[in-house]
Amino acid sequence: MYKTLKDLTNQAEKLNMTVGAFNMHNLEMLPGMIRGAKELGAPIVIQTSVDTAKYIGYSVIVAVVKQLANELMVDVALHLDHARDFDAIKDAIDAGYSSIMFDGSNLPFKENIAKTKLVVEYAHTRGVSVEGELGTIGGTEEGISVSEEDKVYTRAEDAVVFVRETEVDALAVGIGTNHGQFKSKTDVQVPLLKEIHSVVDVPLVIHGGTGVKEEDYPELINNGIRKFNVGTELLVNWTQEAKECFAETAVNKSLRHNIIPANEKVKEIVKHKIALFMNLGEKSNLE
Ligand code: 13P
Repeated sequence: MYKTLKDLTNQAEKLNMTVGAFNMHNLEMLPGMIRGAKELGAPIVIQTSVDTAKYIGYSVIVAVVKQLANELMVDVALHLDHARDFDAIKDAIDAGYSSIMFDGSNLPFKENIAKTKLVVEYAHTRGVSVEGELGTIGGTEEGISVSEEDKVYTRAEDAVVFVRETEVDALAVGIGTNHGQFKSKTDVQVPLLKEIHSVVDVPLVIHGGTGVKEEDYPELINNGIRKFNVGTELLVNWTQEAKECFAETAVNKSLRHNIIPANEKVKEIVKHKIALFMNLGEKSNLE
C-alpha cells in the first residue's frame, strides 16, 4: 500500500527496526527495489532527488510507485530527498509524493526553523510527512557539497528546539556521515546520537548510508534511527554492472541484456540492507 513516511517510521518504532530509504536514479531500477522489500516482507521508502524527479516526471514516478505498491502489496512511501526549493516541494506534493524533505541545513538556525515550519504547515494540511535537517552531512550529493571544514554536528539542545518549533515528522542528524562515500567507511558519532535520541521524541534519519559500517547498524537502530538512506552504493553497482554488460553486448541486442543484470544487482543490495535494517539480531519490542 502507498503510505506516508510517518506511517512507516511508526511501524519501525514498534518493531525497533529502521526503514530503508533508497535513492532511485532511473525508472529501470525501481521495480526490483520494491520487489526486494516484498521478498523480505518489509516496508520501503523510495526517494528521488529533485533533479531525478524532474528528469522522469513527478507524476510518472508517483503513478509507477503507487502501481507497484498496490500490485505487490508492499508498504511504500515516496519521498523527495534534500529539497531546498519551495516550488519543487509543491510540485512533489501536488503530484502525490507522500513525504518530502526540506533541507535547511545550510541556513542560520532560526531561518531553518522558520522555513521548515512553513513547509510543515503546507505538507501536513495535505497529509504529507516532512523530514527536516539540523547539522550537516559531509560529502557531495547531486551538486550539494559540504566540505570537511563546513561539516556541522547536530547539537542535542538545538534538536530539542527545532523539533518542538517545526513539528517535523523525522529529523536528519549530522553525526559524522558523508554523502557519496563509497571508497571508505566513516566513524559515526554514536555517543552524540544517543544524546540527541535521549532528548527528542522524533524518528531520526541517517544520510550517507553507503559510508556507514554495517557492524554499526544495530547500535544506530537501537538509538532511534528509523529511516536509513542508501543511494551511492546502488548507483555505483548499477552503473558498474551496466558498463560491463554494455561493453560485451552487441549494439543490436535488446537493452534488456544490459539493464536487467544491473537492476538485479540493485535488488540484491536492497535486500541485503533491509535484512540488516530489520535488526533481527536484536531484541525487538514485540518480544
Ligand atoms: P549515500 O548516497 O551516501 O548512500 O547517501 C544517501 C542519502 O543520504 C540520500 O540523501
